[in-house]
Amino acid sequence: MGSLLIRGGRPLHGRLKVSGAKNAALPILAGTLLTQEVTRIHNLPHLHDITTMMELLGCLGVGLTVDERLGIEVDGSSVNNVRAPYELVKTMRASILVLGPLLARFGEAEVSFPGGCAIGSRPVDLHLKGLEAMGADITVEDGYIKAKAPGGLRGADITLETVTVGGTENLLMAATLAHGKTVLRNAAREPEVVDLAQFLIAMGAKIAGAGSSTIEIEGVSALHGCDYTVMPDRIEAGTYLVAVAATGGKVRLEGVIPSHVAIVLDKLREAGADISVESDAIELDMAGRRPSAVAVTTAPYPGFPTDMQAQFTALNTIAEGVGRVTETVFENRLIQTHEMNRMGADIQIEGNTAIVTGRPTLRGAPVMASDLRASASLVIAGLVASGETVVDRIYHIDRGYECIEEKLQSLGADIRRQTH
Ligand code: EPZ
Repeated sequence: MGSLLIRGGRPLHGRLKVSGAKNAALPILAGTLLTQEVTRIHNLPHLHDITTMMELLGCLGVGLTVDERLGIEVDGSSVNNVRAPYELVKTMRASILVLGPLLARFGEAEVSFPGGCAIGSRPVDLHLKGLEAMGADITVEDGYIKAKAPGGLRGADITLETVTVGGTENLLMAATLAHGKTVLRNAAREPEVVDLAQFLIAMGAKIAGAGSSTIEIEGVSALHGCDYTVMPDRIEAGTYLVAVAATGGKVRLEGVIPSHVAIVLDKLREAGADISVESDAIELDMAGRRPSAVAVTTAPYPGFPTDMQAQFTALNTIAEGVGRVTETVFENRLIQTHEMNRMGADIQIEGNTAIVTGRPTLRGAPVMASDLRASASLVIAGLVASGETVVDRIYHIDRGYECIEEKLQSLGADIRRQTH
C-alpha cells in the first residue's frame, strides 16, 4: 500500500492544466450503455475510479478501445450481461449509475446494493423510487437490486425529495429511452449533470432544462453514437487553488471553467487571495500572506461543494482567526479533522460544524484518511506543516486526483510517493 511523503513549508508556484472531471466522466461512461452504436469519450482522467467503471462496462460485455491520448472508444453492440457484481460495486459506489441505462435499454438490470461508506450512509432510495415511478418493478434479493421493465420504462413526473446528483443522473439516463415525457423536479444542478445531459443530447436525447431544478426529457426509441469531451474537474481545480493559497504561493490554472468554481473563488478572495479570471484560466496570488479564516456551509450546487469542505478546513487550520465549517450534505464528512489535530491543528466539532482556530503553523505527522477529499486535505495540511508528513492509504487519492505528486512537484512541492 502506498503513501505520500511530504516535506512542507514551501510556497507553491507555477502553472497547471486541470484534468477531465471524474464525477462527469463516470456517469458519461455509464451513459454509453444506452446505445448499441460506438461512442468516443475524450479527456478522461487517468484515475482508479475510471478504470473501475471501464472494468464494469467490460464485464457487461461492452467492447472498449483505449487510445494513448486519454480517449476511449466504447462499442455497446456486444452487451451480453445486465448484472453489476458485488466485487466491483463495493469498490466504487458510482457503479449504481449503470442501473438506469441498463434498465432503459434492456428492460432489466441487476446491480449489487451499494453499502454505506466512510462519509455517510448514502442510500439510493430516490434512484429506486424514481425508476418505480417510471414503471420498473424493483426487488432487493441476495444483496442485489433487481429491476425489470419488460415493456420498457414510461415517462413520469418525479419530484426528488432531496437534491441528489447520482439520483438525477440515473433517472435522466433512464428517461431518455422511456415512452413519453419525464419531468424531474428538485433535480441536481451540478455542472456534471449538465455535462451528462449534453453528452446524451449529442447521442440524440431530447432534454431541456439541465442546470435548472426542473429537467424535461422526451423519450426517444434509440440513441446513436457520438464523440464527446468531458468537462474539466472543478474539484481538482479548487483543491490546487486551496493548496497554493494555503502555502502563500501563486498559480495559473489552465483548462478550467471559472464559473463552475465561482463560490470557491469568492471564499478564496475572502481568505486574502488576489484572483483573476480568463475564459478558461484562473490566476491566484497569495503573495506570501497568511490566509484569513473563512466560514463555509456546504450545499448542493450552486452552493459551496461538499467535495471542497475538507480542503477549506485545512486552509482554516493555519489561517488568521476562527473559521466555522458546516457540512450539511453528508453525515460523517468531518472525519479528517481528528488527523489534522494530530498535526497541531485546533479543531473542535459541534454537531455538523467544525470550529477551526487558526494556528501559525502545523507540525508534520503520519496521518491517514478514509475518503478521497479528506486525503487531499491532509496533503494540503502536509504542504503547510513544518517537517515531514506521511499521508497513508494513498489509494483514496488515486481515485480522484490524477498524478497528484507530479502536479504538486511541478509547483515546487517536496512530495514523493512511497510504496511499502
Ligand atoms: C455525488 O455523489 C458525487 N459522486 C460525490 O463526490 C459528491 O460528494 C456528491 O455527489 C454531492 O455533491 C459522484 O458524482 C460519482 P448525492 P452522490 O446523491 O451522487 C442523499 C467525491 O469525493 N441521498 O447527491 O452519491 C445522500 O445520502 C464524491 O468525488 C438520499 O438520501 O451524492 C446525501 O446525503 C464523494 N437518497 C445527499 O442525498 C438517495 O437515493 C446527496 O447525495 C440519494 C442520495
